[in-house]
Amino acid sequence: MISRSARRRARTALVMGAAAVMAAAGIVAMEGTAYAASTLGASAAEKGRYFGTAVAANHLGESPYVSTLNTEFNSVTPENEMKWDALEKSRNSFSYGPADQIVSHAQSRNMKVRGHTLVWHSQLPSWVGSLNATELRSAMNNHITQVMQHYRGKIHSWDVVNEAFQDGSSGARRSSPFQDKLGNGFIEEAFRTARAADPAAKLCYNDYNTDGQNAKSNAVYNMVKDFKQRGVPIDCVGFQSHFNSASPVPGDYQANLKRFADLGVDVQITELDIEGSGSSQADSYSRAVNACLAVTRCTGITVWGITDKYSWRASGTPLLFDGNYNKKPAYHSVLAALGGSGGTPDPGTPGGATCSVSYRQTAAWGDRFNGQVTVTAGSSPITSWSVNVTVASAQDIVTTWNGTPTWDSSGNVMTMRPNGNGSLAAGSSTSFGFTVMTNGNWNAPTLGACTAS
Ligand code: G3I
Repeated sequence: MISRSARRRARTALVMGAAAVMAAAGIVAMEGTAYAASTLGASAAEKGRYFGTAVAANHLGESPYVSTLNTEFNSVTPENEMKWDALEKSRNSFSYGPADQIVSHAQSRNMKVRGHTLVWHSQLPSWVGSLNATELRSAMNNHITQVMQHYRGKIHSWDVVNEAFQDGSSGARRSSPFQDKLGNGFIEEAFRTARAADPAAKLCYNDYNTDGQNAKSNAVYNMVKDFKQRGVPIDCVGFQSHFNSASPVPGDYQANLKRFADLGVDVQITELDIEGSGSSQADSYSRAVNACLAVTRCTGITVWGITDKYSWRASGTPLLFDGNYNKKPAYHSVLAALGGSGGTPDPGTPGGATCSVSYRQTAAWGDRFNGQVTVTAGSSPITSWSVNVTVASAQDIVTTWNGTPTWDSSGNVMTMRPNGNGSLAAGSSTSFGFTVMTNGNWNAPTLGACTAS
């Protein structure tokens, strides 16, 4: 909170040019110009897809981790924070802290969130395994319901059931407390419960070693076909896509994605990583991305982490950024496959980083009102922004939030800049707010041009 007197003390000698002021009340939008590169998220968006990454809450304090996330990706999947052992360690006692941290970060940047995962044999607290069938059914449905209702409206797609089938040629279900005590019907029950808990979320079945046509993917295919025929709610199938030299991108990857899509579900690449380096890794990545782009209902790609150093299999260097957040050849091949610019700034090209601003009044009382300014990055990512807010001479801005203000000598022109990191992915937004004491003048503030860098 910044009081009037504190604000006056904090004034800088900043003199803002007249060109920075736009005389318009209500909603306004203006742009400023700088230069920037194309990104994974923006390039994928131009193809109607998202490009996401797994995120770990405990790295959100690391500046290059966050700036790479914010700049390059427009979807996140909590890597471990939404698993059963993280959310419901003791029966019916839910703790959402780290998962909420990831969701709020994503929301503040207009990123989608994939929920991962509700019913899985792994990372399951031991109390679940000791329940009898009746108790387990109730615990499973309660877990799905509580978690999905907590995040209702905030999750784009949920991995409702994860990895329920065995590897190998049997096509059988994997042994788990759910399978062993509730039988095959647990998957259907989980999906029905999930639909009731958040009708807007897309409900996915997610698995690995199902990326090409094989006995395991055939078994999943038959289940999805059966669900669609019987009206069991399922919207999407996730293909984890963990590849290495022993398990390369299958030659029939695209055909396999397409046969599932043809059942009437979306398909998503949910945990992509490919061990290796250099051009062979880059080639494999572009084949995977091209397979998705060739299937209309392949709606997005998530890589399983940002930097090699935090990968679940770091020694295989399977991701797009190395341990120092340098872009690897695989990054450039993915960007090229997505139709991006090559990922380097082109200062000779006009255009580049821009932002626009809009204003709305959010609340009003007898003597004051609250205003909110939304800053939106243009078609390229930006690393910072600033915007002038001018109030009438009788008015006084007494409080601000979500930004760092400075003031001109009149006290009527506030220049707002980001709190800390100002990076915004292409097309994403952030907002700041303030309270205006009217002193009888109810005019809306005037916004200057948004300046991006
Ligand atoms: O956080 C603790 C730390 O406090 C402790 O010191 C350390 C000691 O082992 O463990 C840390 O937790 C680890 C956690 O990752 C966070 O790093 C767990 O042991 C470890 O088991 C866990 O591994 C995760 C794995 O799922 C568990 O099955 C990986 O991060 C995660 O990437 C991986 O993700 C799975 C998907 O959910 C499903 N598909 C396969 C994929 C890869 O295995």
